[in-house]
Amino acid sequence: MMEFEEKLKGVAAPLLAWYDANRRRLPWREEVSPYRTWVSEIMLQQTRVAAVLPYFQRFMERYPTVEALAAGEEQELLKLWEGLGYYSRARNLQKTARIIAEEYGGRFPAEYDALTALPGIGDYTAGAIASIAFHEPVPAVDGNVLRILSRITGSELNILDAKYKKIFRAWAQAALPMERPGAFNQALMDLGAGVCLPGGAPRCGECPLAHLCAAREEGRQALLPVRAPKKEKRVEEMTVFLLRREDGSVALRQREKTGLLAGLWEYPNVRGLLTEEQAARQLADWGVSPLRWEKSWRGKHIFTHIKWEMQGYAVTVAGEGEPEWYSAEQRRKMAVPSAFEKANSILREWEGE
Ligand code: ADE
Repeated sequence: MMEFEEKLKGVAAPLLAWYDANRRRLPWREEVSPYRTWVSEIMLQQTRVAAVLPYFQRFMERYPTVEALAAGEEQELLKLWEGLGYYSRARNLQKTARIIAEEYGGRFPAEYDALTALPGIGDYTAGAIASIAFHEPVPAVDGNVLRILSRITGSELNILDAKYKKIFRAWAQAALPMERPGAFNQALMDLGAGVCLPGGAPRCGECPLAHLCAAREEGRQALLPVRAPKKEKRVEEMTVFLLRREDGSVALRQREKTGLLAGLWEYPNVRGLLTEEQAARQLADWGVSPLRWEKSWRGKHIFTHIKWEMQGYAVTVAGEGEPEWYSAEQRRKMAVPSAFEKANSILREWEGE
């Protein structure tokens, strides 16, 4: 995973130099405090910088300190928030303000871990506050950072898949300098907002990291990052027959040697969810006659990429017909997967196990 360590260590110096020359002048950057960083990061979570600016100014005039926010009326706060949307952000701001006022003596906890414990503060926001306001060298990984890291490394890991979160975080940590972590994290935000733009529009000619960028070298900027929505599982509907004869033999057949549940044994089944009438016709096709319809059931089984929706019928039948019949003795050595558990359990019940 750390094959990119050397490359990522080369990010900080050119990026910080670029930031010093090109950074956006923003009110929460010109005057920095944990309170101002926190409020700005919460506002910026779902809202663009330009839209946030007037709200931030008004907010700081009305609630200049965390105590002022803690003491405010919720209705007034929501009114001030009107137009920014995602109002739970405002409610969580006030909850957290009250915790800080009452439990922390009005001072923000200075560590990443303590910050993540507060309402409305997740990994990204805790990283932003800890690095910007407290100079703690922790990353703040948002969509911009995932895009930039994917392109620099040339990685095709799906940024929407939670299982890769740790890897991206480790990459961001590897790139992070011990000096100026807050400037570094904000430099990534500015690079993402103005240069390393999504889709086919990045301005690689202006990018201070172009010389390190695998996507640029390979012409794959428009292909990265990979954002693959979770694949829906394919649903297969089927009807499963647990057929037993009065001598105790049961119909089974062996699955294909390749593919899903390869080589295992299964109860005879057909595609689709058959009604009892259709199921009776299927039995006739197989050349057996029902003596008693014992049970019917609905079941499902979820595999990695496929979901089975099953209609089951347990029937005592007469006749040889097409199915292969196996005695209890023979079946002891035949593996029937738990996807057919319902039929297996009815069979165990019948056999008094
Ligand atoms: N987006 C989120 N946090 C930001 C920050 N501190 N500066 C600019 N854009 C941001």
